[in-house]
Amino acid sequence: MDRDRLVQEMHTYNWMHTIDLGNGVVTPGKWPVNQRILKAFQEIDFSGKKVLDVGTCNGLWSFEAEKRGAADVYSIDYLTHVNYWCSPAFKFAHKVLGSRAQYYPDLNVYDVEQLGINDFDVVIFCGVYYHLKNPLLALSKLRKVMKTGGMIIVEGSIYSDDKDCYATYHYKNILNHDKSNWWVPSHRCLREWVESSFFDIRKEWVPEINNSFVMRIKDMMKRIMGKYDRRVDRIVMIAEAVRRHDEMYRSPDPDLLEFFPEES
Ligand SMILES: C[S@@+](CC[C@H](N)C(=O)[O-])C[C@H]1O[C@@H](n2cnc3c(N)ncnc32)[C@H](O)[C@@H]1O
Repeated sequence: MDRDRLVQEMHTYNWMHTIDLGNGVVTPGKWPVNQRILKAFQEIDFSGKKVLDVGTCNGLWSFEAEKRGAADVYSIDYLTHVNYWCSPAFKFAHKVLGSRAQYYPDLNVYDVEQLGINDFDVVIFCGVYYHLKNPLLALSKLRKVMKTGGMIIVEGSIYSDDKDCYATYHYKNILNHDKSNWWVPSHRCLREWVESSFFDIRKEWVPEINNSFVMRIKDMMKRIMGKYDRRVDRIVMIAEAVRRHDEMYRSPDPDLLEFFPEES
């Protein structure tokens, strides 16, 4: 396809992702490329790896994994249910980039075992957990399809300015005018969700918190006036899929039993 026709066709699609299609053509995504996710990608060796991209949307992270040498990429999404208009743009970028990623636009993360693969080396779980009513179920389903020693990249919303372990649930109190947001965990809570799903956190990128004396006074004043809003930030973490004894977990869920060495 010549460049002008490619640009013309590109503009007929709805782009969330900003994807470099080559030849100086970049998709007009509503979301800028997340630099923290890119940093996480730099920490992972993709060459020859089997990769799962959950909630692929327009496919940016699937194509990025391929660019970095992934051997097999599975890109899943749950579009009929979620009603995101991502699919035509994914297919267009897939064609232009000559991608070999296998696309499953209608596979719920909870049903990921239907792929029939249980040895993924890398799972990309970015921008998804807070859209799920059952993020813990999703994490255990993802652990089940991964190799022990595999890596998961988790990205999403957290309350970064809080050391307590809690999550807020958004059903009637809609978050950011988006009814697809269900949960926001505190930083500690997200860590514990991930760790209790048989992953060990290896690295994370969290926004810097301004904890200066002046900020604390300002927060205190806002609390007194009933105007305090917890700050929602984005986090990226890399965690390794593990099998381990877990002192804290007395009655293992059947889904996770195989990851307790002494129980299986
Ligand atoms: C905010 S977008 C994130 C897109 C991309 N992963 C990224 O980080 O840029 C959320 C994506 O999750 C998908 N999604 C939501 N619920 C899902 C589910 N139950 N199973 C699989 N994908 C889901 C949506 O369709 C959408 O593509």
